[in-house]
Amino acid sequence: MKTSTLVTALCTTVAAALAAIPSSHNQQRSQQQPRLLHTLPPSPSHLSTHTHTLSIAAESVHGGAIFTPSNKTNITTATGTFIIPHARVPTAGPTANNSASLYAASFHVSIDGLSSSTPPCGAALRAGIDIIYDAAADGEQRPFAWYQLAPADAVGFANFSAAPGDTVRLTVTASAAQPGAGVATVENFGHLPAGKSSAAVLQTASVTVVGKQGIALCRRQAGWVVEDFPLPGLPDFPVALADFTAVTFGGLGVGLDSGRKVGEKEFVAGTRLVDISQEAQGGRLTKCELVRGERGVSASGVEAH
Ligand SMILES: *[C@@H]1O[C@H](CO)[C@@H](O)[C@H](O)[C@H]1NC(C)=O
Ligand SMILES: *[C@@H]1O[C@H](CO)[C@@H](O)[C@H](O)[C@H]1NC(C)=O
Ligand SMILES: *[C@@H]1O[C@H](CO)[C@@H](O)[C@H](O)[C@H]1NC(C)=O
Ligand SMILES: *[C@@H]1O[C@H](CO)[C@@H](O)[C@H](O)[C@H]1NC(C)=O
Repeated sequence: MKTSTLVTALCTTVAAALAAIPSSHNQQRSQQQPRLLHTLPPSPSHLSTHTHTLSIAAESVHGGAIFTPSNKTNITTATGTFIIPHARVPTAGPTANNSASLYAASFHVSIDGLSSSTPPCGAALRAGIDIIYDAAADGEQRPFAWYQLAPADAVGFANFSAAPGDTVRLTVTASAAQPGAGVATVENFGHLPAGKSSAAVLQTASVTVVGKQGIALCRRQAGWVVEDFPLPGLPDFPVALADFTAVTFGGLGVGLDSGRKVGEKEFVAGTRLVDISQEAQGGRLTKCELVRGERGVSASGVEAH
């Protein structure tokens, strides 16, 4: 995917308050590596009947960039590249240095499934990498690469492995002919020297996913986000967010119906930034921004606070 914007989406963790996970969680875990539950946002009807709509709306499990195209067209493909960060225990806040907890963060490139309000879309196509720190299992776990046509569960890419520090490119492509199908691809470029952006792909895994009958993508959102998903045993509580320090999604590309690629100006105009905010974990947990890369206007740094 050669055509991409020069804009990158950068998120840093605000390594502040992170709440404890209920300790019962540790007892429920099996010997296997823990996995996140890759949920969809609750439907609008569910939200509007909730008595605490306002406080729910202020909560967010997404940090990153979300692009919405004009109403005249739909998204067919989204791609982005990033370096897999390490999962670390936050050093500040209520759960700092808690040796009996699990921390995680999920980075994904996706079509749909990023907001609960518009449009009422009950499906999402995603490719992602989860990072997990599990004090009960020697600390940092191997990153988990997965794809998903939600609401079906996420599935691990077979025959693919990646380590923190590896540069990976994730791409999702919705089928134009079949509303509930698509392709998810992950490519690993390995550990690149600082500043090197083009390199050979060392490993690729690509899967065609077909949703159950009745599943249809709206193709109205492309996202490059870090998400605070829950754990299977505790679906109502986003996991304590790992301190990932910073992640930069580069090579942001969006393809539209008719094969047209979104240019930089259109991308910036159609993109909004979101941050993870969880009251139970101390408020805002990420600081995300769009940064113009390479030949662009300026590169601004961000400091976690
Ligand atoms: C696009 O469609 C949405 C949903 O129907 C609507 O809210 C919005 O105003 C439309 N935007 C434009 C520019 O027509
Ligand atoms: C976008 O996709 C939706 C859902 O498949 C479809 O109803 C709509 O007509 C499409 N819009 C355009 C402009 O093609
Ligand atoms: C956590 O550990 C780090 C490194 O040892 C230390 O700098 C920090 O003050 C600790 N934080 C808390 C809240 O204990
Ligand atoms: C696994 O990946 C390697 C390297 O990409 C490839 O050579 C091999 O054929 C793959 N095996 C399977 C079973 O897909």
